[in-house]
Amino acid sequence: MSLQSWFSGLAPFRVSSYKSPQVSLTPSLHFSRLSSPWTKDKMALVPYDAEGLGIQKFYKPLTTYKFVNHTIQIKQDWKQLGVAAVVWDAAIVLCTYLEMGALNLQGCSAVELGAGTGLVGIVAALLGAHVTITDRKIALDFLKSNVQANLPQDIQPKAVVKELTWGQNLGNFSSGKFDLILGADIIYLEETFADLLQTLEHLCSDHSVILLSCRIRYERDQNFLKMLGNHFTVHEVHYDLEKDVHVYKAHRRNHKEDL
Ligand SMILES: C[S@@+](CC[C@H](N)C(=O)[O-])C[C@H]1O[C@@H](n2cnc3c(N)ncnc32)[C@H](O)[C@@H]1O
Repeated sequence: MSLQSWFSGLAPFRVSSYKSPQVSLTPSLHFSRLSSPWTKDKMALVPYDAEGLGIQKFYKPLTTYKFVNHTIQIKQDWKQLGVAAVVWDAAIVLCTYLEMGALNLQGCSAVELGAGTGLVGIVAALLGAHVTITDRKIALDFLKSNVQANLPQDIQPKAVVKELTWGQNLGNFSSGKFDLILGADIIYLEETFADLLQTLEHLCSDHSVILLSCRIRYERDQNFLKMLGNHFTVHEVHYDLEKDVHVYKAHRRNHKEDL
């Protein structure tokens, strides 16, 4: 795929007429409530700023965050690298959730999928995790530079940046090695759903926890969550109303649960 089509075809913009479902902070998914009367003609791609939300923030070459008592400065390059080189709200919400301390990351083995700028992986490392921060090959140099720039020397060895294109060369990642699998705004391309699911299946052991943060933009995003629910037990554990971002926690389905 050319850089141009990689950039233009994959932006997870939101549909103009889609209103986010009002999901309460219930501990489990209620798909029936979420099936909205969407139709295909409502699927025109419209950038966020059409809704007054603004994508100006993507044009900033540098964005600054404060997590785990560290100032994190992330370089962005929307024009050259598109979706993988800007910080999405889902990443900020997932970092906030991690910082809230629902999980103890100290010493845990984590992997981040579709890391983009690496903000989530950086915060996971600052919270004590050993983290493998992954994305597609084309995004890796930019990702590495953000990770290196934001981790103190003593924490650098805890973070490794590595290529992981979903569904490909999964043998490079030992099955079941990770306690925690992280993904922010990675549910948006229908053609990748099967590969993403296969990747989660491969990486997960019986004790692994998956945390996925996302904004539900399209009916297809719900479909992915349904697919996920066929293989994993899925609960919504956090919802950021202002950013309209959900955090889902999943773990491998225990056979006893099916009885
Ligand atoms: C919307 S961006 C989210 C980036 C980052 N997680 C964040 O929230 O700021 C989606 C990310 O998924 C990555 N991605 C898309 N398709 C992929 C695939 N098939 N395999 C691996 N990563 C992929 C993109 O390169 C991009 O970094």
